[in-house]
Amino acid sequence: MVARTMIIAFLILLTYLSVTNASNITTDEASLLAFKAQITSEPNEMLSKNWTKGTHICNWIGISCSKKHQRVTSLVLKSFGFRGSIATNIGELSFLSFLDVGNNSFYGQIPDEIGRLKYLYLQMNNLTGQIPQSLGFLTRLQVLHLSENRLFGNVPLSLFSVSSLKDIDLSRNYELTGSLPNEICTNLPVLEYISLQDNQFVGELPTGLNKCTKLEVLSLSYNKFTGNLPRDMWNMSKVQELFLGWNNFTGT
Ligand SMILES: *[C@@H]1O[C@H](CO)[C@@H](O)[C@H](O)[C@H]1NC(C)=O
Ligand SMILES: *[C@@H]1O[C@H](CO)[C@@H](O)[C@H](O)[C@H]1NC(C)=O
Ligand SMILES: *[C@@H]1O[C@H](CO)[C@@H](O)[C@H](O)[C@H]1NC(C)=O
Ligand SMILES: *[C@@H]1O[C@H](CO)[C@@H](O)[C@H](O)[C@H]1NC(C)=O
Ligand SMILES: *[C@@H]1O[C@H](CO)[C@@H](O)[C@H](O)[C@H]1NC(C)=O
Ligand SMILES: *[C@@H]1O[C@H](CO)[C@@H](O)[C@H](O)[C@H]1NC(C)=O
Repeated sequence: MVARTMIIAFLILLTYLSVTNASNITTDEASLLAFKAQITSEPNEMLSKNWTKGTHICNWIGISCSKKHQRVTSLVLKSFGFRGSIATNIGELSFLSFLDVGNNSFYGQIPDEIGRLKYLYLQMNNLTGQIPQSLGFLTRLQVLHLSENRLFGNVPLSLFSVSSLKDIDLSRNYELTGSLPNEICTNLPVLEYISLQDNQFVGELPTGLNKCTKLEVLSLSYNKFTGNLPRDMWNMSKVQELFLGWNNFTGT
């Protein structure tokens, strides 16, 4: 009986493994075409002319592939004036580590499934809704730029535990809220830059910010932070730029 259960479990595992390994260059192409299909307006028909079935996807504009496996590792289409939503199919590009579609007019929500990214640049678009919880599970993420969109609501706490994060910019969404967790420096040991400027963040600043030993820029202006500034903040060794104005801090 036990053996039989184990065999069944093994078969389920095998099925699972073969499903997760099913992606290849052909599925990458299908994912990119699905991404293109959700772009409803593109000046100069850039993608329509360039992302054509006849040419290898690694030669498509904005695409880079890994040399060894010829799989899509990077998608860079910034400042192209594209309008549309970001297709969830992007999450099927299983080797994608760099995604930059900043400074376009992408609207709608940030997809829940967004792969295994190291770099995510979505700034200067028209994205709305909440920041998906799933971004907090991108365990290799180093850069997260979501500034100048129309994102709102609570920033998932999980985001402040992605220990690889070096650079976080959530500024100028105007309606993002949340507070800085106590363990922020323990959980983000390599953090160099964080801007939450022009939002609705609340609460007191945690003590221990001096433990963010690599932090160079801390920008919290134009929010609703309250309370006293923790004394140990003045011990942040590397900080070169500190913006705290236009909050509701008390004392001096
Ligand atoms: C890619 O995977 C699909 C299904 O996952 C399969 O049908 C196809 O033959 C594969 N193509 C290549 C080039 O391996
Ligand atoms: C697509 O754009 C790339 C990069 O600019 C270029 O090298 C390639 O020749 C273009 N392909 C077509 C079919 O226009
Ligand atoms: C944004 O993109 C437009 C073209 O669509 C370009 O003219 C402008 O310089 C870009 N702005 C930035 C800050 O990159
Ligand atoms: C964002 O959306 C609003 C409302 O739909 C629109 O008025 C505005 O032009 C859009 N901005 C950009 C940069 O696409
Ligand atoms: C701040 O730094 C000073 C001198 O480097 C040190 O004496 C003090 O203990 C530090 N305080 C905190 C709270 O880390
Ligand atoms: C800032 O603090 C003052 C005095 O405590 C209070 O009246 C005001 O409502 C606060 N404003 C915000 C935006 O929290």
